[in-house]
Amino acid sequence: MRRSVITATGSYLPERILTNEELSQMVDTTDEWIVSRSGIKQRHIAADGELTSDLATHAAKAALEMAGLEPNDIDLIVLATATPDETFPATATVVQENLGMTGGFAFDIQAVCTGFLYALATADNFVKSGQANRALVIGSETFSRIIDWTDRTTCVLFADGAGAIVLEAQEGEGTSDDRGILTSHLHSDGGKHDLLYVDGGPSSTQSTGFLRMEGKEVFRHAVTNLASVVHEALEATGLTTADIDWLIPHQANKRIIDGTGRKLKLPSEKVVLTVHKHGNTSAASVPLALDEAVRDGRVKPGQLLLLEAMGGGFTWGSALVRW
Ligand code: UT7
Repeated sequence: MRRSVITATGSYLPERILTNEELSQMVDTTDEWIVSRSGIKQRHIAADGELTSDLATHAAKAALEMAGLEPNDIDLIVLATATPDETFPATATVVQENLGMTGGFAFDIQAVCTGFLYALATADNFVKSGQANRALVIGSETFSRIIDWTDRTTCVLFADGAGAIVLEAQEGEGTSDDRGILTSHLHSDGGKHDLLYVDGGPSSTQSTGFLRMEGKEVFRHAVTNLASVVHEALEATGLTTADIDWLIPHQANKRIIDGTGRKLKLPSEKVVLTVHKHGNTSAASVPLALDEAVRDGRVKPGQLLLLEAMGGGFTWGSALVRW
């Protein structure tokens, strides 16, 4: 059976760090409130002129270097973002050009914070079907550009960053012992639009707009949807929560991550946490957390990783990956 295997990871965070202390001088908030409600202590913010494609290119180069591949070894780029450089063309094609790739094809996926799971599932299907052999899957965001910096309920949460993986076709036995993506599950519910959206766009307002969120309602749905999509992945593979070595969740809020971990009865030592340092980087958060855990040696060959995310739309999804 043809499997897509993650053979390398990379990530990039803009140099500028914005602390809770600085935010408390911009809006009516405190470090204590932000940490106790979200777990976030600091976040990275892109420099003026530093684009989503720039962050993505840095992350992609790091992943290619780890894989020992050249850009032209890649035949597909799937880039998840809700903050593209331009309305069109796809930011993925800018990354293709930045990398010096002269062939293959590249496109963007828009599923907000679940974007990386959607991009991973899409690339996995291209690889499994034989339409691609080596893919770069990237999550990259400059959420600082769609934040209303006068809205304390959102500006303390979101941030910028990028993460990337290399996905390569390998033969497997078709069992859950295989390396690679074992299963992935995606969902959306367009009825929840008003709970998390951006109030602008080319067709509606001809402007970019700002992020609007009913945080409490999103929180409530997040814990339920995430636990259910995780169980769906386990049921599809005949595995149990006891088989999971690492939970690599979307990093929106430490309380959501703790709640999901508790529902799954996973000890906190098995959960990769970066939200305190990165904030919510939307589609970039899962590959950023994965890259950190791979590079610091926590993730080891043969281990089972559970990736999950939930975001605007609503969208939510999970993937089980054997390292
Ligand atoms: O990645 C996509 C998915 N997004 C998420 O998963 C985010 C989900 N939601 C959350 O993470 C949480 O709901 C928040 C962190 C956004 C908020 O936490 P909460 O415990 O749900 O607080 P709340 O919205 O109920 O607000 C509590 C109080 C309110 O004051 P009143 O009405 O009780 O007087 C807010 O006005 O805190 C106030 N508040 C703040 N106070 C200080 C809201 N934002 C701030 C702030 N600083 N930055």
